[in-house]
Amino acid sequence: MPGQTEIPRRAEIPRRAVLTAAAATTAALAAGAVGAQTSGQAPPAHGKVALVTGSSRGIGAATAKRLARDGYAVTVNCEKNRDLAAGVVHEIEAAGGRAIWVQADVSDSGAVRRLFDETERAFGGVDVVVSNAGIMRLAPFADMTDADFGRMIDVNQKGSFYVLREAVRRVRDGGRIITLSSSITLLRSPTYGAYAATKGAQELFANVLAKELEGRMISVVAIAPGVVNTTLSTDGKTPEQIAGFAERTPHKRIGEPTDIADVIAALCSADGAWINGQTVFANGGIV
Ligand SMILES: NC(=O)c1ccc[n+]([C@@H]2O[C@H](COP(=O)([O-])OP(=O)(O)OC[C@H]3O[C@@H](n4cnc5c(N)ncnc54)[C@H](OP(=O)(O)O)[C@@H]3O)[C@@H](O)[C@H]2O)c1
Repeated sequence: MPGQTEIPRRAEIPRRAVLTAAAATTAALAAGAVGAQTSGQAPPAHGKVALVTGSSRGIGAATAKRLARDGYAVTVNCEKNRDLAAGVVHEIEAAGGRAIWVQADVSDSGAVRRLFDETERAFGGVDVVVSNAGIMRLAPFADMTDADFGRMIDVNQKGSFYVLREAVRRVRDGGRIITLSSSITLLRSPTYGAYAATKGAQELFANVLAKELEGRMISVVAIAPGVVNTTLSTDGKTPEQIAGFAERTPHKRIGEPTDIADVIAALCSADGAWINGQTVFANGGIV
């Protein structure tokens, strides 16, 4: 079904909500309404296409909405939360943009290929890929479980590798490939070791990939946020711990997902082309 590649994994939301959201998207697709300007001011149409992994919520959702506002047709991706992914698509469409959502677990290379296939089928190609899907499990070395360590490797490191490999094969010349590192690669705090290693890999991926893409005018950048207000960073933390992060930041607040989406949009703009093979630390100065 167009726009809905379903790679079965554990469901986390009520089936009824999933079906309602899926039905709305399906009806829109069946009616050829994907991309229809339903309301609001239409974004500038430049015919470019962006695929953002892990964009049902958090930084990915803010990035998908921002790129749609900048005129990209956008593929929204989730692992489990299909209702949230469908909601991001509805928001984009309501603002006059074009989007589809595809459920695909990035740790499955076949699912990643289908994610790109669906994007090309819906929009005819891809110009920007943001490898954003990620998870964080924290524990001191002594207590880190095989399961948590393994899943971070599978999603953050292998998954992003699969996305970047597919991006190299498919992104059109002149495009952008962005991958999400973290400022933890500089902060190096206790309990973050395993997670930080998977994020450090993104900085190496971006640097090597930029060189491999010689001659294609595709810029590749790792972006390394500081603490951002999403469930990934706030779940399990006390209000005092979060206030502590804000206090350590010169701007006296933690980042919002839109802070990161704005930087990604700048990197994807024509003005961002010369930043290539680098890691951009977008952290409000916490490091
Ligand atoms: N938040 C921070 O402070 C911070 C700081 C530095 C770097 N980062 C990086 O920024 C990225 C986004 O983080 P966030 O804070 O926005 O996270 P988040 O709010 O927890 O959202 C994670 C997103 O990734 C998706 N996802 C998780 N596992 C996936 C998988 N196997 N396949 C496909 N999608 C998957 C989730 O989909 P479902 O909704 O379906 O679960 C969700 O859309 C991550 O790579 C993270 O490491 C975050």
